[in-house]
Amino acid sequence: MTDRARTFYLTTPIYYVNDRPHLGHAYTTILADTMARYRRLAGDDVWFLTGTDEHGDKIAQAAAKAGITPQQLADRNSAAFRDAWRQLGIEYSDYIRTTEARHTKVVQAILQKLWDAGEIYLGKYGGHYCFGCERFYTEKEIVDGKCPDHQTPLTWIEEENYFFKMSKYQAWLIETVERQPDLIRPERYRNEILGFLREPLQDLSISRPKSRLTWGIPLPFDDTYVTYVWFDALINYVSALGGPGAPRFERYWPHAQHVIAKDIVKPHAIYWPCMLKAAGIDLYRHLNVHGYWTLGGRKISKSVGNLVEALALKDKYGNDAFRYFVLREMVFGLDADFSEEALVSRLNADLANDLGNLVARATTMIQNFGNGVIPVSQPEPGGPGPVEDWEFDLPEALQNTKDAISAAMNEFAIQKALAAIWEFIARLNQYVDATQPWTLAKDQDPVARARLSGVLYNLGSGLRCLGILLKPFLPDAAKKILSALGQPDGLRLDDAEWHLLESGTRVEKPSNLFPRVVEGKDAVSVGLQETATVMKVEHTTRVKRDDFSKVDLRVAEVLTAEPVPKSKKLLKLTVSLGSEQRTLVAGIAEHYAPADLVGKKVVVVANLEPAQLMGIESNGMVLAGSTEGKLAVLTLDRDLPPGTKIT
Ligand code: MSP
Repeated sequence: MTDRARTFYLTTPIYYVNDRPHLGHAYTTILADTMARYRRLAGDDVWFLTGTDEHGDKIAQAAAKAGITPQQLADRNSAAFRDAWRQLGIEYSDYIRTTEARHTKVVQAILQKLWDAGEIYLGKYGGHYCFGCERFYTEKEIVDGKCPDHQTPLTWIEEENYFFKMSKYQAWLIETVERQPDLIRPERYRNEILGFLREPLQDLSISRPKSRLTWGIPLPFDDTYVTYVWFDALINYVSALGGPGAPRFERYWPHAQHVIAKDIVKPHAIYWPCMLKAAGIDLYRHLNVHGYWTLGGRKISKSVGNLVEALALKDKYGNDAFRYFVLREMVFGLDADFSEEALVSRLNADLANDLGNLVARATTMIQNFGNGVIPVSQPEPGGPGPVEDWEFDLPEALQNTKDAISAAMNEFAIQKALAAIWEFIARLNQYVDATQPWTLAKDQDPVARARLSGVLYNLGSGLRCLGILLKPFLPDAAKKILSALGQPDGLRLDDAEWHLLESGTRVEKPSNLFPRVVEGKDAVSVGLQETATVMKVEHTTRVKRDDFSKVDLRVAEVLTAEPVPKSKKLLKLTVSLGSEQRTLVAGIAEHYAPADLVGKKVVVVANLEPAQLMGIESNGMVLAGSTEGKLAVLTLDRDLPPGTKIT
């Protein structure tokens, strides 16, 4: 069961061009992009808008500081945002800039309409003004009667400005927010707004005299004033669709959902609904509010100066890893503290171990035990039914996963959707452990053959469905998984059905999806660090050739690898020595993700006495060299069959 085809219009805030994109902006945009991709995957009609907010004091001041015109600054930084979204693989439908004619036209039309309807009046505005900042400060912002920025005394000035009669919509707004419990979500922000609305609502000053600020949209009915930047900016959501009456507007506006952080709830939950009401435009469907990314507890922002560069993280760890981390780590509506260590541990645990390992094991086993082809999914002839069906009921697990994703996405809880997918991954990993295809592969009995077929089919099908489900969240990895299974582009959520994988499909092993990240001493770095130490070969006791040949060295192929519970260092490996399979425990977990090893041909000591390590009997030893924190497992530089003796 999937959602009925629906229409979605998703927007991000339009970002100020006095700043360059950082983690905070990137998060909102990735969140909206994920949602847009998910809806497209579900077959819905989606329009996804982002863009830049280019007028107002802030921009004018930043341009003056940089010695360029506001338009030059806007052009430069708007391009920087656009480029950042390109690099992060954001698939927006439209990018609006508030300096574009298509926007100013709609802003002026709405202003004129409100003016004609008597919704706007000329009034006196008095406030604490800072000449340094060229702006008014509210009582709350003032520190000891001074400008919080310049620490200079403020001047009380009064000027004539145009006001929008916002106060008259207070009762309507309260009633609307109360009637629609999911209008503003999560609930904490709805409660905040209802709390705010208990105080009388003031009218909104919507102009600035040109004597003070020229960088804005002139009021159509008085060109000695420009429009207040928030009144201008909010209208982008409507102007980008062509404004009321335009076909795109009629199609998408009734389904509008905004995505913002908690810093700008008030303009979106108070000014904007009142503006829409006055202009005779229906209210949006949902205002989705997420929390802040913080660093050491402080909001990441240009003014605090604690920027975290999204693009640098993406370059260092890869787009999917960065995307996965931010989507998984933040609970919708709450703040999340950023740390590179947390990113690395999620990458290693969830991506390298859980997902990477599953993909490597499943494709390797289909290669080794199924000749690289998806077998027929055969039920066991007679008997109680294959173990995979009665214990794991994978098609049902898939359906539950899809339902959980759908429910989570409907309430914007992306982290919950990811948790559901990771449960499915864990289940598939358990399925491999329980069914032990490597044991079935040794058995010539027809029941075992049929069971092996069924298990390999299920692994292929599990990966295919997983590839589809992951598309909105990890677009690059999903693509690699699906193409390894020979699947076409353009699969939809409806295609994630257990029996849609065709027998006979060729399977390849995708290259290492998520390499494990190793922590260096000072900084976290990808891969092992270079060391320039020259090793001396110490002269130790010489042995006779006969002594050496007592050690039975063999080529072994790693079939499975998994962490040993409660151990940081140990991995449990199942290896094939050709005629037999062995379980080994190797102290290499700090250097290799299980997925890095599966499918590798390594060298083992085959005649070592068994040893118990963390309760597991190890039957052999993997050869590896190590020095100064670096470790490498011995592999072959040319292919040899497992079991080949090394002399
Ligand atoms: N231009 C206005 C928005 C107008 S919308 C009609 C604006 N721009 S902004 O550049 O300051 O962007 C604010 C938005 O950027 C936040 O609402 C959020 O989406 C994102 N974030 C910026 N810093 C953030 C964090 N530290 N954490 C999470 N999101 C943050 O306000």
